[in-house]
Amino acid sequence: MTHYPVKMDVVPEVEAFFDEVSNTLSYIVTDPATKACAIVDSVMDIDYAAGRITSDHADRMIGMIEERGLTLEWIIETHVHADHLSAAPYIQERLGGKIGVGEKIIEVQDVFGKVFNEGTEFQRDGSQFDRLFTDGDTYRIGDMEVFVIATPGHTPACMVHVMGNAAFVGDTLFMPDGGSARADFPGGDAGELYDSIMKVLSLPGEMRLFMCHDYGPGGRDIQWETTVAEEKANNIHVGSGKTREEFIQFRTERDAQLSMPKLIIPSLQVNMRAGEIPTDDDGNPMLKVPVNGL
Ligand SMILES: [Fe+2]
Repeated sequence: MTHYPVKMDVVPEVEAFFDEVSNTLSYIVTDPATKACAIVDSVMDIDYAAGRITSDHADRMIGMIEERGLTLEWIIETHVHADHLSAAPYIQERLGGKIGVGEKIIEVQDVFGKVFNEGTEFQRDGSQFDRLFTDGDTYRIGDMEVFVIATPGHTPACMVHVMGNAAFVGDTLFMPDGGSARADFPGGDAGELYDSIMKVLSLPGEMRLFMCHDYGPGGRDIQWETTVAEEKANNIHVGSGKTREEFIQFRTERDAQLSMPKLIIPSLQVNMRAGEIPTDDDGNPMLKVPVNGL
């Protein structure tokens, strides 16, 4: 597991943006040597009850990039999120950059293309994205080399992106007192999630880990940054030597009690299209609700 091209001496600047509705963290990650940056896991605001989509969260990120004179090269999705809409196309239209996701997006599109009874015009080949990453792929943000680790378990397309001494873990681990992501969505698997988390924990102990979500367990303030060493020692689901079997049993029992994320229906339809809103036959933006379909 130590074959990863880790460069701990490269220290990117990381700005976090918290979305209180979905408890999601979005990041602007800037190469220390150039003014190139990437956005990880952007958020588009939705008032689902009203069917209204707005862009305040994304506009704050765009504002900071413009203010600092950064060049946006990548818009990364760690996975197809089920709890918020991606703002990737909105941001791309304004700042450019390539939208990237894990290649297993094809499996996700296949599963949810059926759930939402999408017609043949919905391509299930990942072509809505500019780049599909495979395990071990590399790319650059300015002069900074990034590598990706396939981390299935929460969803098939989950990827961790390692940028210098900072890893963006998506939905694998949460903060040590938050444990781990659920593994009960279609294509999810608790055993796979455990194996993926072990890959993340095989990175150097001082590697900074940036969460995709934090729910402030026990009423504490929202946190989003920890380290591999901290997680290994203290993570309540996988830390201090918990076995794979223990994890699978715990995760499966816990997941059976969780309700669906409030925004799963709009999120999946939009995010499996790289953040584009689906349209009806007349070209109007329109979302569906499959009854008893999830
Ligand atoms: Fe997720």
